[in-house]
Amino acid sequence: MERLQKVIANSGYTSRRKAEELIISGKVKVNGNTVYELGTKVSSSDLVEVEGTVINEKENSKVYYLLNKPRGVVTTTSDDKGRKTVVELIHTEKRIYPVGRLDYDTTGALILTNDGELANLLTHPKNKVEKVYIAKVRGLIGKEQLLSLSNGVYIDGRRTSKAKARIQKYDKKSNTSIVELTIHEGKNHQVRKMFQAIGYDVLKLKREKVAFLDVKGLKSGEYRYLSIKEVKKLYGENNY
Ligand code: URA
Repeated sequence: MERLQKVIANSGYTSRRKAEELIISGKVKVNGNTVYELGTKVSSSDLVEVEGTVINEKENSKVYYLLNKPRGVVTTTSDDKGRKTVVELIHTEKRIYPVGRLDYDTTGALILTNDGELANLLTHPKNKVEKVYIAKVRGLIGKEQLLSLSNGVYIDGRRTSKAKARIQKYDKKSNTSIVELTIHEGKNHQVRKMFQAIGYDVLKLKREKVAFLDVKGLKSGEYRYLSIKEVKKLYGENNY
């Protein structure tokens, strides 16, 4: 048996002090009942929910995280060159893996889970899960180039599907453009290659959104649990 605030803090959900505040303000349930007592003891067989999210991980239970991936981390479970992996950023004993892939230098929204079914749903091309990228590119992108990106360009001998592309900002001084590109495919290095196809280099790339999940409120390297509602929505999106 362990104190509730310790169980919450150990799960990585928040600090122990914040966990105490959450308990006092009625945001924590044990086995479905709201608990206000800081000293409450729980065991591994008790179900603990914080703000609607189950935080104690039972063996075999599914876990879902949203990470704001920092630059300089590989999107795999292990790296033969000894580089840091996204999985190492998440405090869990579970064998989780990333859903899809972001390049070493790409930042932003990445789901990690041990739920293979959801991972397959989200990455299968037929399900057309939207991904929104913000790219800083060298040069000033014109209307025609935006249109090319939207209508599809050839990468590795195949045309990309319809996409949405819009300029967020031009910086004439540094000769760069910030472009928002929404795609629903996930080919290797797709965004960088799409820009290359129209003659532009990507200097910086961030994934702002996967499906309806964005990284607002998460600093670089931070993560949070998905709520049950969000997981259900991911399963339900596009009526798979
Ligand atoms: N497209 C890329 O080129 N890189 C990423 O990391 C993601 C999409």
